[in-house]
Amino acid sequence: MCEYCGCQQIATITELYREHDDVAAYVGRLRSSLADGRLDEVASSCQQIMAVLGPHTVVEEDGLFPEMTDEFPDHIKALRADHRQIEKVLGEAADGPPDDPAWPDRLLQALVLLSDHILKEQDGVFPASLIALDPDRWERIEAVRAQNLAYTKPAPTHSAQAHAAPMHKAHTGTSSKNERDRG
Ligand SMILES: [Fe+2]
Ligand SMILES: [Fe+2]
Repeated sequence: MCEYCGCQQIATITELYREHDDVAAYVGRLRSSLADGRLDEVASSCQQIMAVLGPHTVVEEDGLFPEMTDEFPDHIKALRADHRQIEKVLGEAADGPPDDPAWPDRLLQALVLLSDHILKEQDGVFPASLIALDPDRWERIEAVRAQNLAYTKPAPTHSAQAHAAPMHKAHTGTSSKNERDRG
């Protein structure tokens, strides 16, 4: 449970926190690999992070954020922009380390952004959502999570590559209005 406001009592928020923790663990491993110049391992860590962030971002962007945009438009706009920047840089490693010699530095910048982004959500939209949202809205958000889980449930032939899709495209098997609008 969140020690400040109890927002982790909400199952969806609990999952989002847990995924942040998973990402932080992968980032720690990635930084160690990067410091040693092991770029193949760095690329693998990027793919693992993207595998977590893909469905995570769908829940945020199609579930939680639309419910909070009216009250916190600038905050939500900034969080969406962070997603695009993070997925762009990490996604460059979807097929292994990219050739761009500047990529490791850009990756480090993206990891700083990712850490800041997680703190912004955990200090901002997550606790605010518990106060702002009624049970009907939580039901809608949790339906996005359930729909997303159905899509991302690993099949025997599911490859890590499939999980490394851009965050906002991770559930293209769905046809929500939000996704169609986003293009
Ligand atoms: Fe996010
Ligand atoms: Fe998040």
